[in-house]
Amino acid sequence: MSGGHSSYTPSTGIEKWVDARLPLPRLMYDSFVAYPVPRNLNYAYAFGGILAIMLVSQILTGVVLAMHYAADTGLAFNSVEKIMRDVNSGWLLRYLHSNGASMFFLAVYVHIFRGLYYGSYKAPRELLWILGVIILLLMMATAFMGYVLPWGQMSFWGATVITGFFTAFPVIGDPIQQLLLGGFAVDNPTLNRFFSLHYLLPFMIAGVVILHVWALHVTGQTNPTGIEVKSKTDTVAFTPYATVKDAFALVLFLILFAYFVFYMPNFMGHPDNYIQADSLKTPAHIVPEWYFLPFYAMLRAITFNIGPINSKLGGVLTMFGSIAILFIVPWLDTSKIRSAVYRPWYKLFFWLFVINAIMLGWLGSRPAEGLYTVFSQLGTAYYFGFFVVLMPLLGLIETPRRLPNSITEAVLGKTKSGGQLAGVAAAPETKG
Ligand code: HEM
Repeated sequence: MSGGHSSYTPSTGIEKWVDARLPLPRLMYDSFVAYPVPRNLNYAYAFGGILAIMLVSQILTGVVLAMHYAADTGLAFNSVEKIMRDVNSGWLLRYLHSNGASMFFLAVYVHIFRGLYYGSYKAPRELLWILGVIILLLMMATAFMGYVLPWGQMSFWGATVITGFFTAFPVIGDPIQQLLLGGFAVDNPTLNRFFSLHYLLPFMIAGVVILHVWALHVTGQTNPTGIEVKSKTDTVAFTPYATVKDAFALVLFLILFAYFVFYMPNFMGHPDNYIQADSLKTPAHIVPEWYFLPFYAMLRAITFNIGPINSKLGGVLTMFGSIAILFIVPWLDTSKIRSAVYRPWYKLFFWLFVINAIMLGWLGSRPAEGLYTVFSQLGTAYYFGFFVVLMPLLGLIETPRRLPNSITEAVLGKTKSGGQLAGVAAAPETKG
């Protein structure tokens, strides 16, 4: 995955033998040891690594859970209760997996916001970004189907509502919904196919992550200044500098994760999901998991018809559009300056975007009525306005702050010592 030429020298006989046949250790060494990274990466850049660990954690806990889970509407709910009560450490596995999903989304949202703040999506990293958006879509599909598996009230009614959205599309809507459900309502065939896909998709995510990291290693990482690497002194070796920093961030993240798992494992879930699914009892409020709430708010914000598009279809298009628009972000941003650090106006509107996303999340958990709907509409307008109006416009009219000449200059300017920082001497060769 390394873009440059290799600096790996096999030392033992076995290493030489393997290297001549399948140079996997060379690939690992070039990608994760000698690989040069900008010397000024901050902790916002640790989330990619955290995400990779979370993906592994979700797959491992999920595979073991699947050994005890029964994908049958008559058995599913009780099989989960059995996992919680009878299976050795089953409660831990389940809580790691359910809270792990939330932590995974928390990390991915920070990762995406980091990308938007530092302009990570800009040329030549467009494909890297697009692969990320594909990962996000796959994550959403996986999480949605996973939530159906415990066969609680929210599982059942969430699945009913979400699959119902597809009927908003003329002509193709009903066939799509029937294909998803395996019939005309959420039932045993639905549970079976959701289980099958929920097991499959994480491996597809892993495949796309490999492409994502490959693309990253071709272009190299950005950094908070947004200036590309120019010389050897701009970088340090991935190991030990970035690995140690990433590991420290990971430990902090895992402490937060453990806090939820051991002290408030059901905080992010809904109590109704501890009631077995009942197709005759609709819960008072059907609320998705927290990580879907901003999108849910946008879906419900469209309460009016737009020309031939009725409000239901309008809501569904808005919801899908809110993800789809991410695909074209690299071409919406017209700024020549990459990082928000040097873009005062973009920085302001970026933080408003973050606050707006949090507000939409809160509104998604409220009933769709009165002022809640009005604010959801305003929030939706800002969400799309940020991408289609502010991004193209600010790049044209904003006066950026003066950029440093290089990453090294940016770093040494901050130390006031003017001296070399640790690691510069040890830095391996860099990309030109
Ligand atoms: C399972 C999910 C994901 C994993 C495991 C993952 C992994 C990584 C890793 C290891 C890095 C390098 C370290 C870093 O910059 O944080 C990275 C960078 C990046 N990721 Fe992801 N990623 C995931 C999802 C996403 C998503 C959803 C997006 C965008 C929608 C995205 C966009 C990017 C971009 C643009 C970079 C380059 C950052 C830069 O150099 O400025 N990633 N990713």
